[in-house]
Amino acid sequence: MCNKKAVIIGGSNGIGLAISKKLLDCGYDLEICDRIPPEEGILEETKVTYHFCDLMDFDEDLYQKLAQNQDVELLMVTAGIGRIADFQYHHIAEIDKMLTVDAVSTIKIFRIFYERILGKKDFYAGVMGSISGWMSSPSASVYAAAKAATVRFVESVNIELEAYGSANRILDVSPASFKGSRFYGGKNDLTETESLARDIVRHLFARDVRFIPNYEETFKGVLERYHNDPHEYGLHSYQYKKESGRLDNTKRVKIGYLSGTFDLFHVGHLNLLKRAKEQCDYLIVGVHGSGAWKGKETFIPLEERKAIVGACKYVDKVVDSCKEDSDAWALWHYDRLFVGSDYKGTERFDRYEEYFKDKGVDIVYFPYTKSTSSTQIRKKITENAAR
Ligand SMILES: NC(=O)c1ccc[n+]([C@@H]2O[C@H](COP(=O)([O-])OP(=O)(O)OC[C@H]3O[C@@H](n4cnc5c(N)ncnc54)[C@H](OP(=O)(O)O)[C@@H]3O)[C@@H](O)[C@H]2O)c1
Repeated sequence: MCNKKAVIIGGSNGIGLAISKKLLDCGYDLEICDRIPPEEGILEETKVTYHFCDLMDFDEDLYQKLAQNQDVELLMVTAGIGRIADFQYHHIAEIDKMLTVDAVSTIKIFRIFYERILGKKDFYAGVMGSISGWMSSPSASVYAAAKAATVRFVESVNIELEAYGSANRILDVSPASFKGSRFYGGKNDLTETESLARDIVRHLFARDVRFIPNYEETFKGVLERYHNDPHEYGLHSYQYKKESGRLDNTKRVKIGYLSGTFDLFHVGHLNLLKRAKEQCDYLIVGVHGSGAWKGKETFIPLEERKAIVGACKYVDKVVDSCKEDSDAWALWHYDRLFVGSDYKGTERFDRYEEYFKDKGVDIVYFPYTKSTSSTQIRKKITENAAR
């Protein structure tokens, strides 16, 4: 006989890990989706199935499969990112990331599970919002925007569930800052997160719509003050964050760069771009002009090659390459330069190693994977033309 199952998106760390542990105690088998598996020895491994997921690269099939599994009767989304920083210190890639992870992908997952939530059978669903989603949050403007999207979504859809006669609801858990997670660069500490997880699970099973920890003692008054005078509250909140020492105005994103010809675009190119994007947040690709690759004319004109590369979901920006990748650094200030491993030890890359030594740039050498290469395709085309 199959056990009842719970899906935890983000269950490898922080509050997700603590909720996972609680749900195991409640007799659930777990389907944990996260970027890395939970550390060994914390959860009973025979009861946990791990699925790789990156909410920046939405895996619709994975969530469909889990949603269709009738043993699954609980969904909790705890994956999330954010930080306290003034707006000008957010790179556009960070804005994209925060809104995608905390709001867009999260809401998409609820859409995929919605038939189950809307159904007659009991289904327990919840998501980590934040108190930042319930009021303005100067110096966390992007995070607040992302969380506001999610809490408003939950608030709205719960009314639809009620109107359709479903007894199921989505729980919005909107705490202020808590300890025991990796969120502010800390470590997982179940002794810190255990009681919050216990409360969350209790609210999930009660099919409540909202849980703001310490609401009566603290946040009822805070929200009242905010609603009475949002401007005054905002100024106070800004000052409070500044004085708390939690402001982190450092650069957070890793910018990657690689250059290439990308003539006769093939799966080897695609794999290269995918692997590069896995190692950075914002990938800039410099495309060489015709004749720039081993002195050969390209089959495809530059503008078309740029359009093809730019249409690839792993690429954030396409530019004309520079004569030297080091010249491109002066323009784009990238943190990682990606290149095939056969360039390692060449005069050019030895020069780059020297040039980047004091600039905080890593040169990442990728081993070439076996795939159709441009050279093979060129050879075939030339042979066919000669027939
Ligand atoms: N901690 C707080 O003070 C606080 C306060 C209010 C609300 N919250 C909310 O609570 C939730 C959980 O936070 P936490 O404190 O438990 O943080 P956490 O320890 O950092 O856990 C978040 C989890 O989300 C995962 N994640 C991040 N980006 C992802 C992506 N692109 N795809 C898939 N998984 C991804 C993380 O994986 P990696 O570690 O591999 O990136 C991590 O396992 C978040 O939504 C947060 O906004 C936290």
